[in-house]
Amino acid sequence: LLHDLQVAWTVDSTNAELLRCSAPQRGVSVLLAERQTGGRGRRGRTWASPLAAHVYLSVLRLFEGGLGRLAGLSLVAGVAVAEALHDLGYTQAQLKWPNDVLVDGRKLVGLLAEGGGEYAGPARAVIGIGINVHMPPAFAEQITQPWVDLDTLAGASVDRNTVVAAVLARLLPALEEFDREGLAPFLPRYAAFDMLAGREVRVQLDGEWQHGTALGLADDGALRVRIDGRERLLHAGEVSVRKA
Ligand code: BTN
Repeated sequence: LLHDLQVAWTVDSTNAELLRCSAPQRGVSVLLAERQTGGRGRRGRTWASPLAAHVYLSVLRLFEGGLGRLAGLSLVAGVAVAEALHDLGYTQAQLKWPNDVLVDGRKLVGLLAEGGGEYAGPARAVIGIGINVHMPPAFAEQITQPWVDLDTLAGASVDRNTVVAAVLARLLPALEEFDREGLAPFLPRYAAFDMLAGREVRVQLDGEWQHGTALGLADDGALRVRIDGRERLLHAGEVSVRKA
């Protein structure tokens, strides 16, 4: 499953670095960094990546079916990370569609899937995972959304290698399974961690924010939302939970 694993001291972004490489024919290439100078988040945001503080991990893989499967792949990666955190005893970790991992509404992990290649043919997919482990106070002040780190949850200093090993132990088999069987086996696994199911949410649909109730995932990984008595599907975009 694993083709190679490298640990860099500094890169701009582990995602960007792997996208510059050619994918192995079999298995995955894994790149970790101690620090990123241009960590990338979703929607063009930056991902603060101070030295030796967190886990910055990307995997590169060739897969059939084209970039159209990238959205499914990032859901699968989210499930694998949530399962790994549960394996380590962080049983409060939940998924917020599409693939943020949160604890009590505070963000613990961000995932960013990016692709290169053809839409329909074989494609290269990079999945980047940033896990908050030990947030330095100077960086904490700059983050505008609620966040949490593993040290806080564990009440102790958490070893990053243990976290990486647990994530890869779940992620590598999950990627193989997704290749063979698609999203279907992951839907019930996602549901076990789905923090939005049954909750009142605000979603961006048809260019405007609308209120509805999240109903879980459709077969293709879209978010089902009931709005004004009608079920709608959200394939991309932002969701926020409505405050009671
Ligand atoms: C998000 O906005 O929630 C996604 C954050 C993804 C961050 C990770 S850190 C490792 C990898 N390299 C990057 O540049 N981004 C991802």
